[in-house]
Amino acid sequence: HGDFNQKIDYVFKVVLIGDSAVGKSQLLARFARNEFSVDSKATIGVEFQTKTLAIDHKTVKAQIWDTAGQERLFLGDVEVIVYLTLRYRAVTSAYYRGAVGAMLVYDMTKRQSFDHMARWLEELRGHADKNIVIMLIGNKCDLGSLRAVPTEDAQEFAERENLCFMETSALETTNVESAFMTVLTEIY
Ligand code: GTP
Ligand code: MG
Repeated sequence: HGDFNQKIDYVFKVVLIGDSAVGKSQLLARFARNEFSVDSKATIGVEFQTKTLAIDHKTVKAQIWDTAGQERLFLGDVEVIVYLTLRYRAVTSAYYRGAVGAMLVYDMTKRQSFDHMARWLEELRGHADKNIVIMLIGNKCDLGSLRAVPTEDAQEFAERENLCFMETSALETTNVESAFMTVLTEIY
């Protein structure tokens, strides 16, 4: 009974958002394929991966969308890095359309990536369904000695904004499955 002609009961779209280099793509690679890359390239455009799993005896296909926190344009041999928030991009509404879950990711060693969470949340709330399940994720917890965001700060923000919260490491596989499963179960 392989997954060849497996019956899918539900398809859940989940979007990953947050600044560049916080580890969105590696969290997805770890969850979907149990892979991790140290020299991960910045995402260009939009990508997605799926993972089929069982929740409460139902077959759920998680469709996880990933995009760039920062857009890179290559013009001839000049690399022009253009910082754009999703707000200004044509793909914005397509990216959020139909999403029932969102992972708001910051890098716990980069304070700025946490300070930007309020803006990402504002954008998410402006474009997504009002019942969307949102998880705040402090990634790279393997780099504990470089921590720039105390757990309590993130917890406080999550409580105030009514989000789930977890600290993860895509590198060491800490809480990755647990974070995605919490969102998917909450959606279900
Ligand atoms: P954009 O696509 O530019 O938006 O970035 P991103 O958020 O997808 O970041 P990406 O997953 O490409 O990771 C950026 C860098 O952080 C890479 O060098 C990864 O190897 C590294 N990285 C990702 N997750 C972790 C983690 O949990 N721990 C550590 N130590 N490094 C990580
Ligand atoms: Mg990426």
